[in-house]
Amino acid sequence: MPLKVRFMHRQDIPQVTEIDHDAFPTEWPPTNFPRELENKLAYYIIAYENKDTYPEKSPVPAGKETNPGLINRIRRIFSHSQAPVEDPPEEISILGYAGMWIMADEAHVTSIASHKGHRHEGVGEVLLINLIELATTKHARIVTLEARVSNLVAQNLYYKFGFDKLGVRKAYYLDNREDAVIMSTEYIGSPSFKEKFSKVKQAYLQKSGVFISEIPAAEK
Ligand SMILES: CC(C)(COP(=O)(O)OP(=O)(O)OC[C@H]1O[C@@H](n2cnc3c(N)ncnc32)[C@H](O)[C@@H]1OP(=O)(O)O)[C@@H](O)C(=O)NCCC(=O)NCCS
Repeated sequence: MPLKVRFMHRQDIPQVTEIDHDAFPTEWPPTNFPRELENKLAYYIIAYENKDTYPEKSPVPAGKETNPGLINRIRRIFSHSQAPVEDPPEEISILGYAGMWIMADEAHVTSIASHKGHRHEGVGEVLLINLIELATTKHARIVTLEARVSNLVAQNLYYKFGFDKLGVRKAYYLDNREDAVIMSTEYIGSPSFKEKFSKVKQAYLQKSGVFISEIPAAEK
């Protein structure tokens, strides 16, 4: 089943919150996802797979099948609200999420995490590929982030994508006063970054296969 990527919706918050709590158990205050989804500067994406067991979940007796399109149309007729009636949420398993704020010409990765049962399977890479593509389409010049000095796994991921260590923020993390390394890409529109990024992306596609993404990608 191909990995898919799209922007996060409100219905994704319960699964994303679980991943977030597992990935950042001591983070305080925890990410306020409902507020982040309203934040015009913030972009949150998820990597997911469709659940293939959906039709068997709630068997409907023969002759009682319903037509969701018809029900929605009837609901709209009787609804006083002009707001569109949302279709039932797609049944998906979220494997990871990532967030980024774009301020002026800087894209700042606020968080990235893969489901604890799906680490080192390429989810982090797919998320970062899509964040960098999105940052490019939003005309950001650089992508920056902080990581715990002890978080070598995350730093490896960022080095792989051409991030460099710029400095240290002392006692940045409130839980244990751990330092953060500040990491940044070079100008993401530069030929050297584009070449590096394209190689990492091609290597990913060869190793792990295609992913399907709704996130706008930069033109070649
Ligand atoms: C950091 C994190 C997002 C990486 O996601 P992931 O889905 O496991 O990463 P991927 O499978 O896409 O791996 C991409 C690269 O990350 C690095 N990496 C991933 N797992 C690693 C491990 N166990 N040891 C060393 N490097 C590792 C490698 O460079 C890897 O490339 P490779 O496959 O060529 O070795 C994930 O470990 C996670 O959710 N950690 C907890 C939350 C967190 O620390 N987030 C980062 C905050 S700054």
